[in-house]
Amino acid sequence: MGKTVLITGANRGIGLELVREFAGYGWKVFACCRTPESATALSQVASGAGGTVSIHRLDVTDPEQIRQLAATLSEIPIDILVNNAGVSGPLEQDFGNIDTEAWLQTFHVNTIAPMQMAVAFADQVARSRRKVIITIGSLLGSLQANEDGGIYAYRTSKAAAHLVMKNLAIDLAPKGITAVALHPGWVRTEIGGPEAPLSPRESAVKLHQVLTTLTLKDSGKLWSEDGQVLPW
Ligand SMILES: NC(=O)c1ccc[n+]([C@@H]2O[C@H](COP(=O)([O-])OP(=O)(O)OC[C@H]3O[C@@H](n4cnc5c(N)ncnc54)[C@H](OP(=O)(O)O)[C@@H]3O)[C@@H](O)[C@H]2O)c1
Repeated sequence: MGKTVLITGANRGIGLELVREFAGYGWKVFACCRTPESATALSQVASGAGGTVSIHRLDVTDPEQIRQLAATLSEIPIDILVNNAGVSGPLEQDFGNIDTEAWLQTFHVNTIAPMQMAVAFADQVARSRRKVIITIGSLLGSLQANEDGGIYAYRTSKAAAHLVMKNLAIDLAPKGITAVALHPGWVRTEIGGPEAPLSPRESAVKLHQVLTTLTLKDSGKLWSEDGQVLPW
């Protein structure tokens, strides 16, 4: 098999465009989403990709689905695991105005699930040539870049996701795995909103460039879509 990438949250936004981008370069793409039966745009990309894109059901908050997918793909080395699935969290998340359950749910998707994916797929990644695990982080999760406050659920979940990746970079180094967080830019999606300067396509083109050039010396850092190292 040629180069392989597994992408979560692949049915829309940045994830969908990453599928299109990697498939365009001839990669075998394992495109994961919660409800394949309603993933029309992703199905269209898969049909036009000549069998290189396969669609897999995966709610990243369901450990049993993660386990089953890892078992289904157990014989396949995964060059790049992309933890892209994410949520912006509850509508209200400013000082003194945040629902605890919704905050915990945000953590489950944005922070805990990338860790569980890494645990489930580490051996398959270690058996590949590139050996890369990335989580789409966010500049909003950077402690140093935070000058505006607010957005407690999203900011804290991404800051913690960054720390997960820093930890994985240390813990998985003996397996030769590169682990990073990657800020995709401010992108016009449901999470980024209509004012964002980058289209999902533009972001995916840049992310693909960064993702395919990462090596072990780049591990344990927060990268931007332009290939710059951002402050934690
Ligand atoms: N857009 C930006 O400006 C920006 C900036 C920084 C970071 N990010 C990050 O980029 C990533 C992609 O977001 P986006 O901007 O493309 O937003 P989006 O269009 O809202 O896409 C979010 C994706 O995550 C999926 N998802 C949510 N919960 C899931 C779950 N439990 N299991 C599996 N998939 C789930 C969604 O699937 P459903 O359709 O099933 O809900 C959807 O495919 C996120 O991690 C986000 O935090 C975005």
